[in-house]
Amino acid sequence: MKDELYFPSNFIDKVIITREEIETRVKELGAQITRDYDGSDNLLLLGLLRGSVVFITDLMRQIKHSITIDFMSISSYSRSESSGFVRIDADHKINIHDWNVILVDDIVDTGYTIRTVRKLLLDRSPRSLKICALLDKPDRHKVDIQIDYLGFSIKDYFVVGYGLDYDEKGRNLPYIASIKKRKKE
Ligand code: IMP
Ligand code: MG
Repeated sequence: MKDELYFPSNFIDKVIITREEIETRVKELGAQITRDYDGSDNLLLLGLLRGSVVFITDLMRQIKHSITIDFMSISSYSRSESSGFVRIDADHKINIHDWNVILVDDIVDTGYTIRTVRKLLLDRSPRSLKICALLDKPDRHKVDIQIDYLGFSIKDYFVVGYGLDYDEKGRNLPYIASIKKRKKE
């Protein structure tokens, strides 16, 4: 099936991470998390909607422990690149007090989103808190972020696929591709 049926292929510049590479890396991350949380209970994967959905559903099946998932919906205004203001559109349901939480996001860009959500979650006193991101763009960081479980470090591309979107499109592509951005008139 041709990709342009569900994403205009003239948008796509090049595939930078293939479906197979993602699959292998997600398995490795799952194995690492399985090892790290061996013997501990109450493991909660807390995903940020909507970008982390594809990643978290694959990752959870590679973790060989009993786990729970929950989500928060966040709007970030980091594009203005001034304040890094983040709005919570929907909060998580579980009281994280007793949980070993892994915050899961699709990509760390400026780092404002993860930094803000991390602070907010720490105020809610989880048993532990770690950060997991499929992608990281280190050249774009504005704040210091420690990512405990990282899929791939990439250059300063704007990417779509495997949950990531451009104007809500491209989330269902099975690979990660850089795009040719249209100039906003
Ligand atoms: P940050 O707060 O600047 O780190 O922004 C993180 C959020 O911006 C991510 O959770 C994504 O939703 C979005 N984002 C940043 N870079 C990209 C990209 O290349 N493709 C799609 N979404 C992106
Ligand atoms: Mg996001």
